[in-house]
Amino acid sequence: MIKVLAIVGSPRKGMNNDILLENFIKGMKDIDTNIEVEKIYAAEVKALPCIACDACTKKLGCILKDSTNEIYEKYNNSDIIIVTSPLYFNSVSAQLKALIDRNQAIWSSKYALNNSMIDRDKKRLGFVICTAGAKEQPYGLSAITPIMDLFFKSINTEYIGNYFVSNLDEKPVSSDEKILIECREHGRSLMEKAELSK
Ligand SMILES: Cc1cc2nc3c(=O)[nH]c(=O)nc-3n(C[C@H](O)[C@H](O)[C@H](O)COP(=O)(O)O)c2cc1C
Repeated sequence: MIKVLAIVGSPRKGMNNDILLENFIKGMKDIDTNIEVEKIYAAEVKALPCIACDACTKKLGCILKDSTNEIYEKYNNSDIIIVTSPLYFNSVSAQLKALIDRNQAIWSSKYALNNSMIDRDKKRLGFVICTAGAKEQPYGLSAITPIMDLFFKSINTEYIGNYFVSNLDEKPVSSDEKILIECREHGRSLMEKAELSK
């Protein structure tokens, strides 16, 4: 069974990112009903920000005691990882960024300790959904791709695509059937790719 980890980066439950994610998952289930989806709200993880203590370069894992440590295992076991975020000052939300930075422990496990916390041979696919309040800007949504690229590299996951939606301050996704359909199609297409690469 394909295991999917879905992370909602918005602190607002049930809003644009959450709605898009639900539609994306519907699309995935159109292709394969037999998938296991675990949804996590970054705001509920309450990831402490990395303090650059370097402990992870000396001993495996992160010394900060919070539930981020459980997420490392979830990354490892997932076949598909979907990350959603609202665009905040042309970046991801602070809740998601804190979680991303904590992957430094995974980075260190590979490059400092030579004892990877993540199975580097397992095939994982990664997809990003990101929303913006403003109309499309030159340094808008695309600003998050290098961040997400490194995030997925850190967990040995192939960054397979994005779905970006702007202008939400004017028109939330709940009132835009076209966007919901489009997002569901992205879910279908990711699932088709996942089935092909099995
Ligand atoms: C702190 C903060 C920063 C924001 N920065 C931007 C921004 O740089 N560009 C933009 O288009 N919208 C910005 N927005 C609007 C959000 O991106 C928009 O409300 C969000 O995508 C809605 O997602 P949600 O309903 O899932 O929370 C910002 C909103 C907040 C609260």
